[in-house]
Amino acid sequence: MKKVALVTGAKGGIGSSITQALVDAGFRVIATYHPKSEQSAKEWFKENNYSNESVKLLPLDVTDTAFCKESLTALLEQEGHLDVLVNNAGITKDTMFKRMTAEQWNDVINTNLNSLFNVTQPLFESMCQHGNARIINITSVNGLKGQFGQTNYSAAKAGMIGFTKALAAEGARAGVTVNAIAPGYTGTPMVEAIKPEVLESIKAEIPMKRLAQPKEVAAAVVFLASDAAAYITGETLSVNGGLYMH
Ligand code: CAA
Repeated sequence: MKKVALVTGAKGGIGSSITQALVDAGFRVIATYHPKSEQSAKEWFKENNYSNESVKLLPLDVTDTAFCKESLTALLEQEGHLDVLVNNAGITKDTMFKRMTAEQWNDVINTNLNSLFNVTQPLFESMCQHGNARIINITSVNGLKGQFGQTNYSAAKAGMIGFTKALAAEGARAGVTVNAIAPGYTGTPMVEAIKPEVLESIKAEIPMKRLAQPKEVAAAVVFLASDAAAYITGETLSVNGGLYMH
């Protein structure tokens, strides 16, 4: 029987690489996408030549508490249990704080932080009952160091790290590890959306002088999902080319 992993935001820049790496490592992946992008989710599935045995598409609005509870409770009934949960879905709405609207603040907090409650809560008890499970939260270098123009995003990503440590304490006895991965600037559409001159100055600050490749983040997920990582919990693993050492 294949182990089962659920990845939120699975067809995104980093999510796509995480899904592929978990499939390559022998997992069956439940790949969630925003219900509004059903068409592009189907195209992504086809383009990657996934089979129904390796990847199952699941519409999930991670900001909708009731939707998540209903949908994930039904999923558990179908699948029996889940071995790995990767909370990856995230957005940016960058702007200087003096210009930030409540909507820009709330959207980022809802998608990046409140989603951890919405998605993890319906699954956690079952993961504890089954034991030997993994929860991996994709945070960011900017949750560790703070970033000009990202008070909303940095707050949400730092919050994810607090959540990771607290839930790690609750899951430890059952063998459920909870860790975070903090990617640096990674070659995805999210980073490509930064103004070119700003991105150049960011790259100049990175000791390795390049962006991360999504597959370099995915490799860290596969490691934390593996049996070899069973004794690592509450940890935040940076994949940032030396941009921030904590
Ligand atoms: N530190 C100090 N000052 C800064 C600064 C910084 N890091 N960045 C910009 N400024 C200053 C500028 O020099 C400028 O000053 P002057 O007015 O004196 O010239 C002023 O702030 C305004 O800057 P902009 O002209 O860039 O203002 P803007 O309103 O057009 O854009 C911004 C503001 C959207 C925040 C833009 O600066 C920006 O995109 N910054 C990058 C934010 C960033 O790194 N986002 C990460 C996205 S990727 C991601 O989030 C994934 C991940 O996890 C890593």
